[in-house]
Amino acid sequence: MSLFRKKDLSAMLAQADDGGKGLKRTLGAGNLIALGIGAIIGAGLFVRTAAAAGQAAGPAVTISFIIAAVGCAFAGLCYAEFAAMIPIAGSAYAYSYVTMGELVAWIIGWALIMEYALGAATVSIAWSEYLNKLTGGAIPYEWSHSPFESFTDSLGVAHSGIMNAPALVILLALTLLLIKGSQESAMVNAVIVFIKVAIVIIFIAVGWQFIKPENHTPYLIPAGQAAVTDSAGKVIADYSGAFKHGWGGVLGGAAIVFFAFIGFDAVSTAAQEAKNPKRDMPIGILGSLVVCTILYILFGHVLTGVAPWTDFVDPEKGREASVAYAISTYMTGYGWLATAVTVAILAGFSSVILVMLMGQSRIFYSMSKDGLLPKAFGDLHPKYQTPYKSNWILFVFVGLFAAFVPGSVAGDLTSFGTLFAFVLVSLGIWILRRKSPDMERPFKTPLVPLVPILGAVICLAMIFALDMQTLKVAFLWMIVGLFVYFLYSKKTSKLNK
Ligand code: ALA
Repeated sequence: MSLFRKKDLSAMLAQADDGGKGLKRTLGAGNLIALGIGAIIGAGLFVRTAAAAGQAAGPAVTISFIIAAVGCAFAGLCYAEFAAMIPIAGSAYAYSYVTMGELVAWIIGWALIMEYALGAATVSIAWSEYLNKLTGGAIPYEWSHSPFESFTDSLGVAHSGIMNAPALVILLALTLLLIKGSQESAMVNAVIVFIKVAIVIIFIAVGWQFIKPENHTPYLIPAGQAAVTDSAGKVIADYSGAFKHGWGGVLGGAAIVFFAFIGFDAVSTAAQEAKNPKRDMPIGILGSLVVCTILYILFGHVLTGVAPWTDFVDPEKGREASVAYAISTYMTGYGWLATAVTVAILAGFSSVILVMLMGQSRIFYSMSKDGLLPKAFGDLHPKYQTPYKSNWILFVFVGLFAAFVPGSVAGDLTSFGTLFAFVLVSLGIWILRRKSPDMERPFKTPLVPLVPILGAVICLAMIFALDMQTLKVAFLWMIVGLFVYFLYSKKTSKLNK
């Protein structure tokens, strides 16, 4: 019984068909691009752009976006080849089952839980923060923070989190929507995508007139930039490190804004629900990536042109809710836009969570069909034909994280899971080209093996740029995964029969 036994591609495609009993093919190219944008534009753009500018890249955050996008594009091209060739649910997990065998597939499936499930948890926590902002802090601290968070207010009263209730509420609402069906979810997603793209475009168009060229000079953070301290003299931003100024800082900024691109790969999890996957998967994956990259560069250009980037480190200026801050402080007469942006951010976060939850439930679905997870994960709802039990199990799992774990912990693990999947998908394309050169490939990644190698190398570099604590937790998670595989999944795998 080999650890590297592979699933046969034709058997896999037949399983996807499943005599019409499987997932329904309802999504067209437009839906898929919307699905991608739905998962991509979120906390990364609205929160991390200002953070990257303030902490590492300055106005050159635009170049940071380009670097991160190039890394994603290499991986995206590889995803597109796989998704058109193997149009079944499960994304990177399914591809590696065919190319690198069961153990690697299991490992990648386990890592994808970090990307999608923890990604959903992270963004639901950010959602809760913004809801609090919109309601003027109406939700008590205790009920909107994890037990690991605490603070002392200006009256000297100590507060400690109990659970993050709003995060749970938004997760519940989106779980119910997902169970109702992917067509319905796609519709809600499309409306939200329209709202958030409109707000981004309005911000760019209106903000353009308020750009001050002096805010863009110098374009990179200079080597001698003084550290910033708070009123008590504590250092809150230090620019002496190699990745904190100049071109190094632009790279550091790329690692920070990478989070903003996570999600284009989520399009591939819906391959089994695409009407014409061979044509539409590459369009969906690469199309959403291109649209978002253009918007991001323009957005970064305007944001750092409207407000000096130094404002984005100052807690009393624009360190939090930076976009709303830039509008209300520097764009006279556009106060309404600040509120609209906050509402759009809330809606935008919802669609990110929606697509992440959908992606995760589809991966569970595939793993269950392969016998690696219990059958319940693959049961479809008798009426809606969605993997509803999987959705409920996921709600409990993601909900535990969202309610009781701080957002920062989940966020970096999300990046790890994503980058890890990108590396394996890139290598998988190269392996499959060598092993099965004659297979039908409706979309071909250009310049193989150069593109896959560059994709893997850039993503590996970003993994090593993550902090040690994140790498340790991720390692532990992967070890737990191996235990589950050897004690359970290896024995229950359908390939045993
Ligand atoms: N790219 C997604 C976001 O920025 C995960 O929220």
